[in-house]
Amino acid sequence: MSVNKHGKSSSNSDSLDIQAKLNKLIQENTSLKETNKSLQNQVEQIKKEQIIYLQNVSHQLVAPLNAMKWHIENLTAGRLHSIERIRKVLRSIYSQATISVHLAKNFALMSNLEADQTLAAQREPIEQVKLQRLMVNLADDFQPLGWDKNVHIAVIDDPLEEAPPVLAIKNLISQVFSNIIENAVKYSKPETEVKIYGQYNPDNDTVLVCISDKGIPLPSNEEIERIFSRGYRSKDAQNIYPAGTGFGMYIAKKIVDIHEGSITAYTDQEGCSVFQVTLSVKGLKGKAVQREPKDSANRR
Ligand SMILES: Nc1ncnc2c1ncn2[C@@H]1O[C@H](COP(=O)(O)OP(=O)(O)OP(=O)(O)O)[C@@H](O)[C@H]1O
Ligand SMILES: [Mg+2]
Repeated sequence: MSVNKHGKSSSNSDSLDIQAKLNKLIQENTSLKETNKSLQNQVEQIKKEQIIYLQNVSHQLVAPLNAMKWHIENLTAGRLHSIERIRKVLRSIYSQATISVHLAKNFALMSNLEADQTLAAQREPIEQVKLQRLMVNLADDFQPLGWDKNVHIAVIDDPLEEAPPVLAIKNLISQVFSNIIENAVKYSKPETEVKIYGQYNPDNDTVLVCISDKGIPLPSNEEIERIFSRGYRSKDAQNIYPAGTGFGMYIAKKIVDIHEGSITAYTDQEGCSVFQVTLSVKGLKGKAVQREPKDSANRR
């Protein structure tokens, strides 16, 4: 017990003081425990998402790799007896290899885009991209995907050919159109045509590119935005390709957004699914440092 200068005992006020401090500590401890629990829950959630993501990646990559393995086994074992058959199998290997490359690029891009969503943060140069040329090259890449169903990709050059180049990160923009064209072919009915067309709009200095196909229906107008959310897949899409991830359009939208462009989808009067991308010709000028392309080889 202590005595103050007036000779009175201070034990009562001291113990009240200690009690108040103790209460505060107990409160702080409870709130720390709650924060800790919520952080643990977040970590668990992230772990779960990572597992799902990796399962999707491996599932998606294993399918085309297995198909190629199976085709190569048939070829080397001499099980294919006609030139026509051999040609068909080689075409299929090419098509599966295109899909694998495309998938691998998508998965790497996705983690990059998730981490930082600004144009300047992407470690790739902004350059002038002639969209008509890009479309012709992508159409060639994806043509084999339609062979089995007899679906042909047609690039309608005029008036897209006249359009000026747009400023964009070429690899990323190429990924946007790869994803749209791949879907168009995958979800087309047999014996139909995927059409790619576009034009320059001088009013707002943009280039528009449309990819249309006749196949499974798009969601209704009210639900259409769902196709750009991560993981969305319609019932029809799941029936045709059970192994899809629903990442393609989500990635495409993210890339178009960082380019300050727009991407929309609608069903036209003939019942075709149309994906429309608009990119600015000069809009990105000065938005990020323009660097020389790192890798000038293998560019087209
Ligand atoms: N051309 C199209 N016609 C009709 N529906 C489409 C078309 N393109 C996309 N969709 C719808 O949008 C969904 C999302 O497409 P997205 O490309 O993101 O994923 P996915 O094609 O299902 O899977 P992944 O691209 O990973 O193989 C599709 O599952 C389908 O329901
Ligand atoms: Mg897709």
